Amino acid sequence: MQWGLRNRLSQIINPATGRTVMLAVDHGYFLGPTSGLEEPGRTIQPLLQYADAVMPTRGVLRNCFEPTIGTPVVLRVSGGQSILKELSQEAITTSMEEALRLNASAVAVSIYVGGEYEHQTLVNLARTVDEAERWGMPVLAVTAVGKEMARDARYLSLATRIAAELGAHFVKTYYCEGFERVSGTATVPVVIAGGKKVPEKDALELTYKAVQSGAAGVDMGRNIFQSEDPVAMIQAVRAVVQEGASAQKAYKLFQSLKRKRGRK
Ligand code: 5RP
Repeated sequence: MQWGLRNRLSQIINPATGRTVMLAVDHGYFLGPTSGLEEPGRTIQPLLQYADAVMPTRGVLRNCFEPTIGTPVVLRVSGGQSILKELSQEAITTSMEEALRLNASAVAVSIYVGGEYEHQTLVNLARTVDEAERWGMPVLAVTAVGKEMARDARYLSLATRIAAELGAHFVKTYYCEGFERVSGTATVPVVIAGGKKVPEKDALELTYKAVQSGAAGVDMGRNIFQSEDPVAMIQAVRAVVQEGASAQKAYKLFQSLKRKRGRK
């Protein structure tokens, strides 16, 4: 791997721990004003200091953040659909030139294995890797899952490994029973999405089980920014991922931070 690419990747995945807490805030690219992200800058700003990287679209990055944020950016560069239509019909919507101009530390592209436009999304990924490697830019493949697709180890290991075979430098997928099969056959670091909002205790349990079974961390969105206390929640997630805390200990931390911050 080239020096620049490795350097960028090391800004996201801490070389000392091999782990990362990424904050996913790109939901608006097909969901519009997602609950919790109606005013993205307001929600996200206080969380940035606890994240190893943040994953926005260029719109939110340019419109809602100061260029001095200091947190590495994993820039979403695929999209072009909405929740109202076929989700897998994605194209590359942000150029590599723009990613470089915005000083991204990596770019993110979704793939829909098993989706109607599977081929198109896999080619989007492969072409992005070709272009990104010219500039030393790492590529995160997001194994998006359509409504009808099972989130099991068989499907997620298929999608994750295909992403790595096409050249993705790291992959985002979902946690599932038997996650060792997904992480153990990926050949590149794998991070998990949090999925739909669940109680904080369950989200921390999910995070713990994922890192115990080989995940390099999380790229978590709704379970942080839709939490009853997002600032406390991201610190609890961080305790599990970067400090090796158990889910129980992290939940206690969440509760105590929430109390201190005056939240009921
Ligand atoms: C959608 C994405 C989202 O950023 C991500 O999946 C959302 O994270 P979470 O499930 O934790 O809200 O990449 O394809």
